[in-house]
Amino acid sequence: MIYDTRPFKLIKNEEIARGIFDWTVENRELSKLAKCGQFVNIKVPGKTLRRPISICDAGENTLRLVFQVKGEGTEIMSQMKVGDEVEILAPLGNGFEIKDGKRYCFVGGGIGVPPLLFSAKQTKNPMIITGFRNKDLVILQDDFKKITDALYLATDDGSAGIHGFVTDVLKEHLDEIDEVCACGPIPMLKAVADVCRGKVKCQVSLEERMGCGIGACLVCACKTKVGNEEMMTQVCRYGPVYDSEEVFYNE
Ligand SMILES: Cc1cc2nc3c(=O)[nH]c(=O)nc-3n(C[C@H](O)[C@H](O)[C@H](O)COP(=O)(O)OP(=O)(O)OC[C@H]3O[C@@H](n4cnc5c(N)ncnc54)[C@H](O)[C@@H]3O)c2cc1C
Ligand code: FES
Repeated sequence: MIYDTRPFKLIKNEEIARGIFDWTVENRELSKLAKCGQFVNIKVPGKTLRRPISICDAGENTLRLVFQVKGEGTEIMSQMKVGDEVEILAPLGNGFEIKDGKRYCFVGGGIGVPPLLFSAKQTKNPMIITGFRNKDLVILQDDFKKITDALYLATDDGSAGIHGFVTDVLKEHLDEIDEVCACGPIPMLKAVADVCRGKVKCQVSLEERMGCGIGACLVCACKTKVGNEEMMTQVCRYGPVYDSEEVFYNE
């Protein structure tokens, strides 16, 4: 694992949906190391524990991070100003494994959608299925449209796109794809894994509570299974991406 902590300069902070913020941060050394599905750990002013946020996109010198305000840490982040310096540990974790010659379908729910952008950009002809609770929470559709025509939007209440869940869309298109990469809430990941079981391989990205982000504190420890064997894993170090059959989906 190659990572380090550096001051990044905040060069964009925009609210793109209610309570959802789109950051671009700049640091020449660490940005170029980012791989799809990895995350960063952000030192929030006044907070001891860092906040983990997925890498939504990466440029030569920049990282794009999209986050939803959940508690005090992300609230402070949302109020930071362009030009501020942010201490960021990056890039962390093992992301999605992308192989040549396969057609991937990226399935995201809510604030699990952002990491799929950088990931989908690494593949040819991706299919992207995004789901949100309602139209006010829909994000990143224009970004996805730039990389594929096979983009599907579903909302729980039908206020935008298809009325239903991402799994309703996935079931219809399963025979057009080779593998699924999913990120979102645990019930969604469980439902996606159920649809894929025995048909296509599926990788899921977990959002476990974290402390250090580098395998030193065990806050992110959780149980996984490989075959009939159960074992403990540290999501920050060995994840956040796992084969969907290795995960216990405790809601
Ligand atoms: C690998 C990974 C990637 C993530 N990517 C994103 C993303 O791209 N966009 C986004 O909006 N959110 C993402 N999250 C969730 C995000 O980290 C939490 O929403 C955030 O830490 C909440 O901090 P807070 O101070 O606002 O909330 P509080 O509830 O006040 O946080 C208290 C403590 O709990 C931790 N915590 C709370 N919720 C979570 C959570 N779901 N996951 C991990 N730690 C948590 C915080 O880091 C903090 O240490 C990700 C989480 C992980 C583990
Ligand atoms: S967050 Fe500390 S070991 Fe994973």
